[in-house]
Amino acid sequence: MGIKYLGHSCFEIETKGKKILIDPFLAANPDYKPEGIYDIFVTHAHGDHLGKAIEISKETGAPITAIFELANYCAQRGAKTHGIGLGGWVNYSWGKVAAVPAFHSSSTPEGEYGGCPCGFVFEIEGNTIYHAGDTCLNSEMKTIGEFFQPDMAMLPIGGFYTMDIEQAVTAAEWLGVTAVIPMHYNTFDAISVDISEFERQIREKGKLPVIMKVNQELGK
Ligand code: NI
Ligand code: MN
Repeated sequence: MGIKYLGHSCFEIETKGKKILIDPFLAANPDYKPEGIYDIFVTHAHGDHLGKAIEISKETGAPITAIFELANYCAQRGAKTHGIGLGGWVNYSWGKVAAVPAFHSSSTPEGEYGGCPCGFVFEIEGNTIYHAGDTCLNSEMKTIGEFFQPDMAMLPIGGFYTMDIEQAVTAAEWLGVTAVIPMHYNTFDAISVDISEFERQIREKGKLPVIMKVNQELGK
C-alpha cells in the first residue's frame, strides 16, 4: 500500500495497482494526471474537497462515493456515484470503507444542501486509516477509536474552519492512533500554522507526526 499527498486534504492511496483518490482539490497540484484512479471519495460538498471529483470521474470512469445528497449532485453532473450514509462497512474489491460523522457544514458550489459532512475509515491490506474530512474535535472520535481502532489518521490542523493543532493532538489521543498525517493547513492565510508546533505536540504524546510534502509518497 502507498499513500501520496496531493495537497490540502487530498490523498491518493494505492493498493494492488488500484488507486483511490480522496477529496481531489488540486490547487497545489495543477499538473496532476488522474491515471489509474479506481474509486473517488469526497467527504463533503465544499469546493476545497469536491475539487475536480466530477471531472475525474467522467474522465476515468471511477465512481464517486459520497453522502447520498452529494452523490446525487455529482450524478446529475454526469459522474458515476455510490451514494451512502453514515454507518456500516461498504465493500470494495480492494478493501472496505465506513462513513463516520464530521462536525462541519456541507453546501455545493451553487449553495445547495450537500447532505451531512463525513469522514471515512478505510480498511486496506490490514491497515485501518481514518480521514477526518473537515471537522472540529468531537467525542465521536472516541467511538471511532474504540470501534474501528485506526492505526493512522489524516487530521485537519489549520483551525478557523476545522480543528487546530491543539484539538488535533487531543483527537489523536482519543482515536488511539500511532501516527498522524496533518492536512488542511497552510493552503490559505486563514489556516496557516507553524507545523513544527504540531510536530512537537504530537511527539510529546508519544505519537508519530507524518508531515508530507505535496506529491510525497509513503510506503508501497
Ligand atoms: Ni469544508
Ligand atoms: Mn475545507
